[in-house]
Amino acid sequence: MAVTRTFSIIKPDATRRNLTGAVTKMLEEAGLRVVASKRIHMSKEQAEGFYAVHKDRPFFGELVEFMMSEPVVVQVLEGEDAVTRNRDIMGATNPADAAAGTIRKELALSIGENTVHGSDSDENAAIEIAFFFKPEEIVG
Ligand code: CMP
Repeated sequence: MAVTRTFSIIKPDATRRNLTGAVTKMLEEAGLRVVASKRIHMSKEQAEGFYAVHKDRPFFGELVEFMMSEPVVVQVLEGEDAVTRNRDIMGATNPADAAAGTIRKELALSIGENTVHGSDSDENAAIEIAFFFKPEEIVG
C-alpha cells in the first residue's frame, strides 16, 4: 500500500470544546502523520468555496455559517492509504451511525457538528490540500 496524503479539518465544534489535541491523537494513533497544520478562522468565501459541491443542498447555508463560527484546524495527513485510513478513524458522517471508537462516535455532536472533515478520494484530497496549503507549508 502506497504512502499518500489526505486533507482534514478539525471543525468548530471541536476547537470550541478544546479537542484539537484529542482529535489529533486519534488520527496519529490510527497511523496518520500530521505533515501540515494551521489554525484559521474561515472566511465566508473560503467556506463557500470549499463546500461548493454542496451548494444546492438544503443544509448549505447552515454548513457555511457553522464553518465560519469558530476557528478550525486544517491539516494535511500522511500515511499508508491515507484517505481510507482517515475515513475509517473518522467514522460515518452522522455520529449516530458511526462505529464505536471512531472520532465521530466518540466526540461529534450531530451530523452538522461532526468534529472532522476528511477527503473522500485521492483526487479530492489533492484539490482540498491545494485550497488551503502552499507546497512549502507541507513538511513530510
Ligand atoms: P463533511 O465531511 O465536512 O462534508 C459535508 C458536510 O455537510 C458534512 O461533513 C456534514 O457536516 C454536513 N452535513 C451533511 N449532511 C447534513 C445535514 N443533513 N445537515 C447538516 N449538515 C450536514
